[in-house]
Amino acid sequence: MSISNLAPIPELYVSHESAQKLKVEAGDLPSWDLTPRQICDLELLMNGGFNPLKGFLDQADYDSVVERMRLEDGTLWPMPVTLDVSTEFADKIEIGQDIALRDQEGVILATMTVTSRWEPDKHREAEKVFGADDLAHPAVYYLHHTAGRIYLGGPVTGIQPPVHYDFRARRDTPNELRAYFRKLGWRRIVAFQTRNPLHRAHQELTFRAAKEAQANLLIHPVVGMTKPGDVDHFTRVRCYEAVLDKYPQATTTMSLLNLAMRMAGPREAVWHGLIRKNHGCTHFIVGRDHAGPGKNSAGEDFYGPYDAQELFRQYQDEIGIEMVDFRHMVYVQERAQYEPADEIEEGVTVLNISGTELRRRLAEGLEIPEWFSFPEVVAELRKTRPARSKQGFTVFFTGLSGSGKSTIANAVMVKLMEMGGRPVTLLDGDVVRKHLSSELGFSKEHRDINIRRIGYVASEITKNGGIAICAPIAPYSATRRGVREMIEAYGAFCEVHVATPLEECEARDRKGLYKLAREGKIKEFTGISDPYEAPETPELRVDTTGIDVDNCAQQVILKLEQMGLIAGR
Ligand code: PPS
Repeated sequence: MSISNLAPIPELYVSHESAQKLKVEAGDLPSWDLTPRQICDLELLMNGGFNPLKGFLDQADYDSVVERMRLEDGTLWPMPVTLDVSTEFADKIEIGQDIALRDQEGVILATMTVTSRWEPDKHREAEKVFGADDLAHPAVYYLHHTAGRIYLGGPVTGIQPPVHYDFRARRDTPNELRAYFRKLGWRRIVAFQTRNPLHRAHQELTFRAAKEAQANLLIHPVVGMTKPGDVDHFTRVRCYEAVLDKYPQATTTMSLLNLAMRMAGPREAVWHGLIRKNHGCTHFIVGRDHAGPGKNSAGEDFYGPYDAQELFRQYQDEIGIEMVDFRHMVYVQERAQYEPADEIEEGVTVLNISGTELRRRLAEGLEIPEWFSFPEVVAELRKTRPARSKQGFTVFFTGLSGSGKSTIANAVMVKLMEMGGRPVTLLDGDVVRKHLSSELGFSKEHRDINIRRIGYVASEITKNGGIAICAPIAPYSATRRGVREMIEAYGAFCEVHVATPLEECEARDRKGLYKLAREGKIKEFTGISDPYEAPETPELRVDTTGIDVDNCAQQVILKLEQMGLIAGR
């Protein structure tokens, strides 16, 4: 295989002077605000990471890539890199026109001459590229729910790279990496792609791969977009830095790749190979279930465990990079070392901790043994994923007016404050309406805005390790579900349905509002002239009829304990 990292690779940037001029001129062009994924794609288009692409695919190339993994001229390219836009924007654009591509702050990064505009058949794209039109696949979900309806294609003229403020010294363009390899005299480089923290097994396997290929090692983690739910890249990079010290000095380096992954398994592996080739690497590690998206909606894996290796092997000469197949490494207790699973004789004790088990141990603050990971890596993960009893969470009471939400919420708040450890904020219905939502009424639209505001504040509190207790009526299931999703991104959500029946609430009528509602003096009153959709599966349901507040509050506290959110000292 040819040594590929000696010459620079073509970029799409114009010279500094031209860029200054172009930037001014581009100010008058119709402009498209790039999505986070498009910014990642554009960066790799401009810096040569997606060489030989010269811009976002036009329709002919797109069709050809989708159908046969090749550009129209026959060049291997497995992934549609397209500029998806809204119909409104596409309607304004004439073929042949230039448009400005801006980042999310409005900075013009590039211009594109639109040579092609079409409405893609997304079902076909899903089937052909991702193997199934199944929304359980994150890229298929993105295709149908996030991507715009219309694709624009055409050559890109690069003005400036997207700005990154984080880990700048660790980010390299293909040409910067090539220059680095040249400078150090590295001619054989094996790249390791990852979106997860590295543990001992990964360190062993990458080290072995480098030794076997007699190559230097490039740890090349993706920091653009990975699978939803992955450990954030800030934490991961700190973990990688810790692991880097474990390799023999001067054989290994690390660089961050701002790629937006699609989790497309086999096709993605080929794509990753082309990208690493462009970054000057000669070898590429492809593992079991490379870039796998997890289970489909029938609960089965989208791709076979070695589909990616097979497809890669088929194309590796054309990619111009040699595959090093991932050897599945396991820990052999008797010999206190990692060994390839396929070389182990029967009768020895093999230890393993799955990803799920690792998450469980982190969540519960349990031990993670040193044979599994490096203490520095575990310490970083614990900082980001503290045990549940140290994380923030939200208790969300919902129920009719006068059902007892506020009273129980207050009692729960006091009990949690008595326990200490985390700050507690009560977002009571009435209080929120005074301070956050004073302009809102009780229409469905206004109630939804009100609940989303509460959800947003609670999610920030949860993210920052506090306890948010919310006590609005929140009559609509879909809105409550939205709030749950917002919060569960950061911590636990405990929905408590205060299911005191309407008759009891009305009989109590503590604020005299039911009477007024019956008389028609208050409109849109929940339970009387407005709907209440009871939660079907709340974490807890309490009915205050005939039970004192303290008892209800106790039930909530016990629930929180059961959820692992409060623990003994
Ligand atoms: S919502 O639906 O969640 O936005 O409502 P919320 O913010 O919790 O506000 C409910 C309190 O406002 C008073 N109030 C009404 N409730 C329901 N319907 C109508 N039309 C209405 N008008 C005023 C009432 O005091 C509610 O307080 P609670 O504590 O629930 O009794």
